[in-house]
Amino acid sequence: MEQDRVKSTALRSRICGAEDAAALISDGMSLGCGGFTPSGAPKAVSRALAQRAAEAHGRGEPFSVRLFTGASSSPALDGALARENAISFRMPYNGDAQLRGRINAGETAYVDAHLSRVAPWVRAGFFGEIDVAIIEAAAIREDGGIVPTLSIGNNKTWLDMAKTVIIEVNSHHSAAIEGMHDIWGGDTLPGSALPIRRVDDRIGETVLRVDPAKVRAVVLTNEPDLNASFRETDDGARQIAGHLMEFFRHETARGRLPQTLPPLQSGVGNVANAVMAAFSEGPFENLVAYTEVIQDGMLAMLRSGKMRAVSGAAFSVSVDEAKRLNADMEFLRKHIVLRQQEVSNNPEVVRRLGCIAMNTMIEADIYGNVNSTRVMGSRVQNGIGGSGDFARSALLSIFMAPSMAKAGSISAIVPMVSHVDHINQDVQIMVTEQGLADLRGLSARQRARAIIANCAHPDYQPMLLDYLNRAESGQYGGDTPHLLGEALSWHQRFVETGSMRF
Ligand code: COA
Repeated sequence: MEQDRVKSTALRSRICGAEDAAALISDGMSLGCGGFTPSGAPKAVSRALAQRAAEAHGRGEPFSVRLFTGASSSPALDGALARENAISFRMPYNGDAQLRGRINAGETAYVDAHLSRVAPWVRAGFFGEIDVAIIEAAAIREDGGIVPTLSIGNNKTWLDMAKTVIIEVNSHHSAAIEGMHDIWGGDTLPGSALPIRRVDDRIGETVLRVDPAKVRAVVLTNEPDLNASFRETDDGARQIAGHLMEFFRHETARGRLPQTLPPLQSGVGNVANAVMAAFSEGPFENLVAYTEVIQDGMLAMLRSGKMRAVSGAAFSVSVDEAKRLNADMEFLRKHIVLRQQEVSNNPEVVRRLGCIAMNTMIEADIYGNVNSTRVMGSRVQNGIGGSGDFARSALLSIFMAPSMAKAGSISAIVPMVSHVDHINQDVQIMVTEQGLADLRGLSARQRARAIIANCAHPDYQPMLLDYLNRAESGQYGGDTPHLLGEALSWHQRFVETGSMRF
C-alpha cells in the first residue's frame, strides 16, 4: 500500500489529492521546490498547478509563481509551468527548452547563481519569503523524519523557510534509499567550518525535519523521475577523455598527483560521462568523487570497484540506469553520500579536499577565459550551475568542449569570449578533441599560443593566429593583447551570416 510509506500518524491525516494540494498555491506566490535535475522534482502537484494556471489564464486571470529549486528540474515542473507561461521568476538553473525560450524572450526573470549560494542567500532574506515548499520523499517515518529521494537540493531550507509544506511521497523509489542522505543541520556562512575531511564523512542526519503543523498536504505518487537519455558517446567526447587520461598518467608519473588522484568532480552532459567511462578503463584505482551530479559513469565505476566513494548532490542518470537504481540501492547506499547542495558544492570543502574539477564549456577565448552559459553572449543555455563552486576552489580546474559547434560554423575557441563565467585564473587545463593545453605557469601570451596550437580546430587555427599576431604587434600592446574592434567580430559574423568563418 502506498500509504504505508507515511508512518507518521499526524502526517497521514494530511493525505490528499494533487489538485487539493495545488489549490493551496495562489498567483504570485514563491515556491521552494525539490529538484536537482529531474531527480527529486515534484510531479503530481506541479502538473496540477500547471492545470490551475491554464484554467486561470483561460478565464483571463493572471496566474504565475516565483520558482526556486535546487538546479534544473523536470518536464513535470519547469516544462509544465513554462508551457502555461506561469513562471514569473526562476532561480538558480534551468535545463528545460520551453522555459529557456521564455527566459530568452524576457517573459521569465531568471537569476543564474552559483548553486552553493542559493540556500544561504534565501535564508538571509535576499529574495523575500518562501510561501510554499513542495518536496518529494521516499517515505515519512513514524518520528516525522522525511526520507528524501535521489536529490536533496535546497529542500532543508525550503522546509525551514516555507509557511506551507506539501510533500509528495513517491513509492517508486526503493525504501532501501533510507540512510544514503546526510543532512547538515548547521549553516554554511563564513566562519562555520564544515567538518568534512574525507569525501564520505557524514556530518548530519539521514532525514529532513519539518514542523508538522506546516504540512498541509501529503500526496501519494508512484512515478519514476523523467530522465532524458544521454546521447551516444561520440568520437569527439572519446578523444577529449583520451587526452585527459594521458594528462593524468603524466601527472601521476611525475609525482604531481597521487596515484589514486584527488577527489574528482565531474560536470554535466555527454562529454563528462565519456570522461568517466575512460576512467573505468584507466589505470587509476580506489578513486573517490566529491561532485555535484552523479551520472552513469560514476555508478559504473562504483560497481566495478574502480571508485570507492562518491559524495554528491543528486543523481543525474539515463533512463536505462534509472531502471537499475532500485535493484542496487543497498549497494549504492554504502558508497554514496547525498548532501544538500550548499554542502556538496561547498567551496571551503572543495579547497580543503584539493578536488579536480572537470566541467564543460560553450566557448573559451585564446587567453583562457570561459563562457559556460551564454550563446553568442546573449542567449542563456542553462546557467552556471555548480561549475563556479568547483572551478574557483579546486586544486586543478579543467574545462572541455568539442572544438567546433553547429557543424563547424562555430569555433569554440574565439578571440574574446562573448560572456565570461570563469576567468582565466580559474582555468588550468583546457581540452578539446584536438588536444590539451596545460596553462599552468604560462603568461597570457603563452596561454594564447598553447590554446590555439592544442585546442583550436585546424580550420580556425590560422584565423586565430592571424588575430593574435596582429594584436601582439598592434599599437596598444599589453600582456593580453586584443584588437578591440575585432575581438567579438566572429560572433557578430555568426549572427549575420550563420558562420564564424570568413
Ligand atoms: N556556440 C553556440 N552554441 C554552442 C556552442 C558554442 N560555442 N557550444 C555548444 N553549443 C550548443 C550546442 O550546439 C547545443 O545546442 P542544441 O541544444 O541546439 O543542440 C547546446 O549548446 C548544448 O551543447 P552540447 O554539445 O549538447 O553540450 P553539453 O550537453 O555537454 O552542454 C554546456 C554543454 C556548457 C551547455 C553544459 O555543460 C552546461 O550547462 N554547463 C554549465 C553548468 C555546469 O557546468 N554544470 C556542472 C557543474 S557540476
